[in-house]
Amino acid sequence: MSAPALPSLSIDADRLIRRIEELGRIGRGDDGKLTRLAASDADKAGRDRLVEWMHGAGLELRCDRVGNLFGVWRDGASADVAPILVGSHIDTVIDAGVYDGCYGVLAGLEAIETLRASGFKPARPIAVAAFTNEEGVRFAPDMLGSLVYAGGLAIEDALATIGTDGAALGAELQRIGYAGADEPGFLRPHAYVELHIEQGPVLDREGVAVGAVENVQGISWRRVAIDGVANHAGTTPMTMRRDAGLAAARVIAYLRDHVAGSNAPSVATVGCIAFEPNAINVIPSRATFTVDMRDPDERRLQAMEAALADFLDRLAAAEGVSIAVERLARFEPVAFDPRIVELVEDAARRRGLASKRMASGAGHDAQMMARICPAAMIFVPSVGGVSHNPNEFTRDSDLVAGANVLLDVVTRLAG
Ligand code: GLV
Ligand code: MN
Ligand code: MN
Repeated sequence: MSAPALPSLSIDADRLIRRIEELGRIGRGDDGKLTRLAASDADKAGRDRLVEWMHGAGLELRCDRVGNLFGVWRDGASADVAPILVGSHIDTVIDAGVYDGCYGVLAGLEAIETLRASGFKPARPIAVAAFTNEEGVRFAPDMLGSLVYAGGLAIEDALATIGTDGAALGAELQRIGYAGADEPGFLRPHAYVELHIEQGPVLDREGVAVGAVENVQGISWRRVAIDGVANHAGTTPMTMRRDAGLAAARVIAYLRDHVAGSNAPSVATVGCIAFEPNAINVIPSRATFTVDMRDPDERRLQAMEAALADFLDRLAAAEGVSIAVERLARFEPVAFDPRIVELVEDAARRRGLASKRMASGAGHDAQMMARICPAAMIFVPSVGGVSHNPNEFTRDSDLVAGANVLLDVVTRLAG
């Protein structure tokens, strides 16, 4: 069998790396930490730069009512031909790395610019998207912009969402100038492809350049509030306490033990916690914290939720506290389109890159877009599997290789 012809077109590696670095400098505080939360001043600065790049690439700029940004290359294709959409997000977590999300948006832009400069005549428009509030750090749920886009959350409800700082998303989008006029969903894609760093250890550990992502695990977010009674830390005997802080600690330990004993790939995290009144010599009257539970299997995720609810009931009785639970996000596991997964594998093979089919542990806009069109993802290695951390790192050579695979997949889909 003869070897497949090698692709001749490649993205501009220097431009891609330069843009990733530049976007990574936008939103750094005086302490050097990168935090570009959705619809913040830093997000505005990042969006402004992205818009300049999209303009420079000759793309038509569109922004929808939930602030999702699109750069569209039509090249004469008629408005009723469904576009190929690529993209991700440029909002970040607190004290973030520079790759999460930004890589997918900038590589998508890069792929379009490369095709445009090459004289390629696409049969379909190609567009790059930066979705609002993928991280969900400021506004819950995560993937909010793409969820609204896919029709999974009403626009009015999304805009009324109150963030961790008390601000409403709609007002914040107005304030930063990114409350657009387009109705979410205005472009109905023929297919959606998202390139992303893996954010986990698999590709790096196995020395594989490309992940052909087949599915995303389910996500369940809860906010738990435990009410006990404040009392004197020196005078209250241990047996007479109704200590909300202690009860919260028991939940954290329970989650760890439950997952460890389950012999399943489930994960559970308490990432935020606050005590009231938060004083050294006062027993906490209130503890509020978040729970993030994930599993690739929907039934196991449901079982984990039920087991937590049962544990909280028993805990409330045992510790004399009351417990309220609020659901912040709930997304079932998602399977991607097998034809696009195959295209990713094929593109990697033609570039001489090893690839591996895999699941995504992180949430992504692609899982929302999969509700309205065939979708899939491409992963590249994260050194040491580190992400949501300033030490997040992917080698330039892997970033460029992944962007070229995206270019080839888009070329096939739009050709
Ligand atoms: C998004 O980054 C997530 O929490 O998976
Ligand atoms: Mn991301
Ligand atoms: Mn993230």
